Amino acid sequence: MSETGEIVGLSMLEKARMDVMETYCGIIFPGLVHTQESLQRAVTFQFQDTDIIIATYPKSGTTWTQEIVTLITRRGDPHLSETVPNWVRAPWLEHIYLEDALKASSSTPRILTTHFPYQLLSSALQGSKVKVIYVSRNPKDVAVSYYHFCKMAEFFPSFTTFQEFLHQFLEGKVPYGSWFDHVKDWTSQTTTMNNLFTITYEELWQDPHDAIKRMSSFLHCPLEENEVNNCVKHSSFRAMKENKMANSTLLPEHVMNHSKGSFMRKGKIGDWKNMFTEEQNQYFKSIYESKMNDWSSEIVWEV
Ligand code: A3P
Repeated sequence: MSETGEIVGLSMLEKARMDVMETYCGIIFPGLVHTQESLQRAVTFQFQDTDIIIATYPKSGTTWTQEIVTLITRRGDPHLSETVPNWVRAPWLEHIYLEDALKASSSTPRILTTHFPYQLLSSALQGSKVKVIYVSRNPKDVAVSYYHFCKMAEFFPSFTTFQEFLHQFLEGKVPYGSWFDHVKDWTSQTTTMNNLFTITYEELWQDPHDAIKRMSSFLHCPLEENEVNNCVKHSSFRAMKENKMANSTLLPEHVMNHSKGSFMRKGKIGDWKNMFTEEQNQYFKSIYESKMNDWSSEIVWEV
C-alpha cells in the first residue's frame, strides 16, 4: 500500500491499453502492464549483487515461487506475504510500475520477477552476482494453464478454442514468446552462470520440503526445520488460494475477470490429460521433438 492507502500499481492500469500489445524484439507483451519504455528499462536494469530474480515462462509456477522466496527470506514468517501484494514484494522487472513497487517495498534482499527470455537480460546480467531462480513446468500443463488464464485475464489475447490457443502457443505467438526458446535458453545457462538455480514445478509439487531447503541454501539463507515447515505450509496451494495478496483477487474485475475462472485454478500435475485430444497430443509431440532435439535436459512427463 502507498501512504494514501492505494495499492501500488493499480492506478497505472489504463483502460485504454487493455487491448494494446507491445512488440519488442519480435515478442508480444500485454500493453496494460508493458510499454516500450518499461521493456527498454528492464533490458538495461542495474541489478544489485544482493538481488534475487525469479525467471519463468508464464504459468510455470511464478506466483508460487514468489511466495516461497518471500517466505524463505522471512524465515517462514508469513506476515509480508499476507500483507503485501506479490507484484509489490516481488515486482516484475518489465512492468510499468516497477519503480513504484521498488520504492514502496523496502525489503531486502530485493526480489524481482521476470518473464523475459534470457537473451533480453543477458547484457544486464553480465558480470552481476544476482541470484537467479529459473522455474520450468511440463509445457502441456503450461499450455492448459495459459489457455484458462487468457480467458480470465482481459488484457491478454482471447482464444475461442483450445485448438486455436495451442497452435499459437506452439508457434510462439502468445505473449512472452516461445516456451521452447525460453526454457532452452535459460536452462542452458547453467554451464555459464554459477548463480543460476533451476528447478521444476513438478519437483516443487512432489517434494516442496526438499525443494525449499535446496532453494534456501542456494539463497544463502539456510533454515531450521520448523522454518522450512512454515515455508511449506504458507506456500501450499490451499494457503495461497486463500491469500488475496497472491491469488490475484485484488485486481479489478475489468483486468482479471474472476467470474471466468480462478488464478489459483487447480495446481496439479498432468491436468493436460483432461484437455488434449489424441490429435493435439501428436501435434504437440511432433513440434516438441523438432524444437527440443538439441536440448540437454529433459521434461518430467510423468510422475
Ligand atoms: P494451474 O492453472 O494449472 O492451476 P504462474 O504463477 O506462473 O502464472 O502459474 C500459475 C499456475 O501455478 C496455476 O496452475 C496455479 O494454480 C499454480 N500454482 C500457484 N500456486 C501454487 C501452489 N502453491 N501449488 C501448486 N500450484 C500452484
